[in-house]
Amino acid sequence: MNIVVRESKNDVDAYVAMIMASRIMLNPGLVIALATGNTTKSLYQVFADMVKFTGLKTQELQGLAVDEYWGLQENDSIGCFTRLKNAFVDAGILKRSSLFGPLTMGASTCESVCEKYDVLIRKMGGIDLQILGVGNNGHLGFNEPGTPFASTTHRVSLSQGTRMVLSEKYHKSSFSQIPEEGITMGLGTIMLSREIVLLIKGEQKASIAKRLISDPVTEAIPASILQVHPCCTVVLDREAARLI
Ligand code: GLP
Repeated sequence: MNIVVRESKNDVDAYVAMIMASRIMLNPGLVIALATGNTTKSLYQVFADMVKFTGLKTQELQGLAVDEYWGLQENDSIGCFTRLKNAFVDAGILKRSSLFGPLTMGASTCESVCEKYDVLIRKMGGIDLQILGVGNNGHLGFNEPGTPFASTTHRVSLSQGTRMVLSEKYHKSSFSQIPEEGITMGLGTIMLSREIVLLIKGEQKASIAKRLISDPVTEAIPASILQVHPCCTVVLDREAARLI
């Protein structure tokens, strides 16, 4: 695990946007998995600006949502796919046909959506670069504590705490609007990515940052599995790195 500490949240975004741009320069057809959440929101804006000002060619890039709510329409405004569509397709970075998420699989049952998503990822040749944030309890995507490390794409019940945080801090909507279930790439799917970058920002993430980096690897802290990934970089701002 490489640990990189930058002074501010903006510096974290700039650093990770540079990683994304440099990987795309080397491999224009890069397959990139993208987490949604507050942490990555400003990164995607910085990356869009970088593409605009440098003229980086991104038309062959292929994007995948890491997770999604189950029970939403494809274009629901709180959906992860919609947020990625706004940040990447509407910004002219990705072609609409090159952005995928569980809800674009066109299957009606949750189980077949999960199966189709894993088949798609395999057909794409696997994930080259995985961009992640982490929840306060160490969750990655919607992989809550206790998720098996070998899991593939699967259906999840969202914990009350996660739904609370999502409604208050992220969507600014009522708790009841947040679906009780989601679909997420599994921890096994994530770990098969060739490169992983985890962003951690802010004082409130200092404790989980310390635990995922230095506690023993345990399914009780899903993100601790990243310690054994061969090419994982954790990029933190000064506040999030306070305890490490
Ligand atoms: C959410 C999302 C994840 C995200 C994580 C952290 O529940 N499902 O994809 O990375 O939790 O969110 P945030 O960056 O808003 O703290």
